[in-house]
Amino acid sequence: MIKFSEEKLKQVEKIIARYPEGKQKSALLPVLHLAQQEFGGWLSPETMDYVASLLGLLTIEVYEVATFYSMYNLKPVGKYVFEVCQTGPCITRGSDDIIKYIGERLGIKPGETTPDGLFTLKTAECLGACGYAPMMQMGKGFKEHLTKEKVDEIIEECRRSAAINN
Ligand code: FES
Repeated sequence: MIKFSEEKLKQVEKIIARYPEGKQKSALLPVLHLAQQEFGGWLSPETMDYVASLLGLLTIEVYEVATFYSMYNLKPVGKYVFEVCQTGPCITRGSDDIIKYIGERLGIKPGETTPDGLFTLKTAECLGACGYAPMMQMGKGFKEHLTKEKVDEIIEECRRSAAINN
């Protein structure tokens, strides 16, 4: 059975305390982030049930939120997650070609993870950085003005960094 450490539970309490009494539901998004970070980079049904029990919510309320936002992963993901924006302004600037190119380079389709567990390719709706199109989110940062050459560099950089950290 999964459970936050004492330290993480204190963090959860702090998050809940940011909101008015009885409004612990408002803590759902940050607590889901914390859970995703803590329990393997994705939200299993067990993890979502646990979050629901912590916040006193119905499990369906947690599932609704977790399935709505693309930032939550509902299956295991790779060490590096490429979330390429596929909304109008990014598509106009070639994001569909970028998605195709990343897929070819990595041998995966959107929603898939490479067999070595290094990369996951996802698509996302507007990430609020249209002026830097085409772009993608990678972890907490954005990679902007993407070109095939930039994609090559990013993939190589990830591989180098994974090799160093292994
Ligand atoms: Fe891609 Fe807005 S359309 S960031």
